[in-house]
Amino acid sequence: MPSRWLHERKTEHYYNKAKEEGYRSRASYKLKQLNAEFGFFKGARRVLDMGAAPGGWLQVAGESITSGLVVGVDLKEIYPLYMDNVETIVGDVTDSVVQDEVLGRFRGEKADVVLSDMAPNVIGIWEVDDLRQIHLARTALNIADKLLREDGWMVVKVFQGKEHEAFIREMKAMFEKVYIVKPRASRKGSAEVYVVAKNLRKDRSLPEEFGTDVKPSQIVEDDDTEPLPGDNLPDYGEPEEYGKKRL
Ligand SMILES: C[S@@+](CC[C@H](N)C(=O)[O-])C[C@H]1O[C@@H](n2cnc3c(N)ncnc32)[C@H](O)[C@@H]1O
Repeated sequence: MPSRWLHERKTEHYYNKAKEEGYRSRASYKLKQLNAEFGFFKGARRVLDMGAAPGGWLQVAGESITSGLVVGVDLKEIYPLYMDNVETIVGDVTDSVVQDEVLGRFRGEKADVVLSDMAPNVIGIWEVDDLRQIHLARTALNIADKLLREDGWMVVKVFQGKEHEAFIREMKAMFEKVYIVKPRASRKGSAEVYVVAKNLRKDRSLPEEFGTDVKPSQIVEDDDTEPLPGDNLPDYGEPEEYGKKRL
């Protein structure tokens, strides 16, 4: 059976499920599967979601915390979710003014969970897409350093490219526990994986060379931008895993 056919069926399955169950994107199921495995929303009261449009992860986060605050930020407007505990910001998280606004929404309190599903507008030149993605992931890490509770959780999307190993080392310099996982709802052939990390180290160090010269593009056309297998991207195979099975 052609694997592309399987990928498309799986994508269609989660797309239809999202429509039936009222979620804004099939990405919601990735977060649900990650939370089912790690339980990071248990007892959580404050959550930051970066790259939150159209709002699928915000819906899952908003439903998962009983009280408290979920803040979503994205370049694109997030249409109202009508959830009392969810606030949104339109802006570029690589911009320090937007970062200050994000931190301000938490009024000096620490967050329990920091999420980033940010993805650049994939242009199909792998090296560029990879650097843009890593730039976003490092930005998210920098914000987590300021905002996250010491025993909090971070979940960040990355592509398995040239910078991947370096980024994992950086995550390990920041957190005591680091896992790499690929949820079932993520296309198997795509280079996308999620890094799930817990417990900020007391002696943590941020990446020395923070970010790259490549600015992430301002527009993402889809609600779920990981490239389709075969769309000018090499297949980087199964993700490396640290003590966790594939979800
Ligand atoms: C895969 S989508 C997120 C889907 C979302 N998790 C959901 O469940 O609906 C990636 C998002 O990252 C956003 N993004 C990319 N670069 C960004 C940046 N610099 N600042 C804020 N958002 C960014 C894009 O606009 C896009 O909406």
